[in-house]
Amino acid sequence: MTQHDPISPDNKPGHHTAVVGLQWGDEGKGKIVDLLTAQHDVIVRYNGGANAGHTVVVDDQKYALHLIPSGILYPDKMCVIANGVVVDPQVLIEEIEALRARGVEVGDNLYISDRAHVVMPYHKEHDAALERVLSSKAFGDDGDHSIGTTRRGIGPAYADKVHRSTAIRVGDLLDTDHLHGILRVICTIRTAELAALGVEAPPLNADDLCQRYAAFGRRLRPHITDSTYLLHQCLADGRWILFEGANACLLDIDHGTYPYVTSSNCSALGIPPGTGLPGRHVELVLGTMKAYTSRVGEGPFPTEQDNPIGERIRSRGQEYGTTTNRPRRCGWLDLVAVRYSAMICGATGLACMLLDVLSGFDEVKLCTHYRLPDGTLTDRFIPDAWRLGKVEAVYDTLPGWTEEIDEATDRSALPGNARRYLDRIEAFVGIPIEIISVGPERTQTVVSV
Ligand code: GDP
Ligand code: IMO
Ligand code: MG
Repeated sequence: MTQHDPISPDNKPGHHTAVVGLQWGDEGKGKIVDLLTAQHDVIVRYNGGANAGHTVVVDDQKYALHLIPSGILYPDKMCVIANGVVVDPQVLIEEIEALRARGVEVGDNLYISDRAHVVMPYHKEHDAALERVLSSKAFGDDGDHSIGTTRRGIGPAYADKVHRSTAIRVGDLLDTDHLHGILRVICTIRTAELAALGVEAPPLNADDLCQRYAAFGRRLRPHITDSTYLLHQCLADGRWILFEGANACLLDIDHGTYPYVTSSNCSALGIPPGTGLPGRHVELVLGTMKAYTSRVGEGPFPTEQDNPIGERIRSRGQEYGTTTNRPRRCGWLDLVAVRYSAMICGATGLACMLLDVLSGFDEVKLCTHYRLPDGTLTDRFIPDAWRLGKVEAVYDTLPGWTEEIDEATDRSALPGNARRYLDRIEAFVGIPIEIISVGPERTQTVVSV
């Protein structure tokens, strides 16, 4: 381990760090957060909700985390679900219980913001019903207009946050009368909206919902706090903070492939509003990327390989959704997209994940430009689904490597063609690759500084 080793617990960086996805999600953020937790004190989720599925593998034990920060496996670290997250209390309680059943301590090491918004059952129904209507080909163009959401109620919950008068925050669960008052309004409005979307169900009942969600509030009460003051106190106490991005930059509501995005700012730009910490505290940003590209759900994907190449990547990379188990769409690495995301996120380093999946290809391709419909080339990303859907990926083709690399421990010991592939990525993006991942286990990690 060198002096600059970014993952050694003996080598505290003296920095606050963000881990963010640079593609369309599932880049391996959970693994990286787990690794970096060793040298930070507080691990914070700032966006998204249970649409995220972050996998951590330790000694053959696999943990899939949806709402709880991936630092939870270290009992002496503080984990915080900050105000920018939308929390489904039922999923959270199940996650806490499942971790405890496996011997993971979840107690006064977990805090939840009283200002995080609550995902309610009618949000999930609305999400699913809207997707059903959008995919019903009922709009005269025979098209499927759905987003391919996780149906976890994320969009409707964030929409309520913006609507204000129909929203519930975690702190509201702690006062039954107050909660009942909000729910009376919501139930009337939502029942009508769900009916308009074709949901055949009895009217929403404020008494029942209030009883259930007040009970969740009582159950979560020991964890609920003003996370903004808590995090500022952590800063004042000199504790190092690790921000765990959920979803990914190309799914960012402002900077992603709109409208095929999620409903939060999941780039590093979401950290200040999602936590209440000024942006200058985000010192290091580790942009996490796969050595290729994957995407779940609908939306443009210029380097998609809907052919045996994509199938080989899916099968070697076990590319099935951690949250929904949907097969992920797979394709070559899109450097135009990664460089754009690194720019938006202010990435200071890259973690290149799942490099082992590319072993055995005769040649590997890197997308360096897009060809526009008029034939011109651009090396700029296009964060607009309808325009990005019309480009053609232009590639650099590099020779592949046959050797399996899942036991590699040193960048210099990787096959020459794998090293050249990594060198090309670094040169194009203009940011160093600090971590190379060659398998899901903590130990299958090559520190490359
Ligand atoms: P996240 O959402 O960004 O945390 O990523 P996911 O957990 O949804 O998906 C990443 C998947 O790849 C998980 O199943 C990980 O266990 C696995 N994984 C992470 N790094 C590597 C790697 O270097 N090689 C392989 N083969 N699998 C990896
Ligand atoms: P992690 O944190 C991959 C995608 C969904 C869908 C779109 C909108 O595990 O990387 P939503 O339910 O958020 O309204 O869905 O965003 N999506 C993800 N894809 N990984 C994720 O999270 C995702 N979170 C949302 O598939 O296309
Ligand atoms: Mg995931």
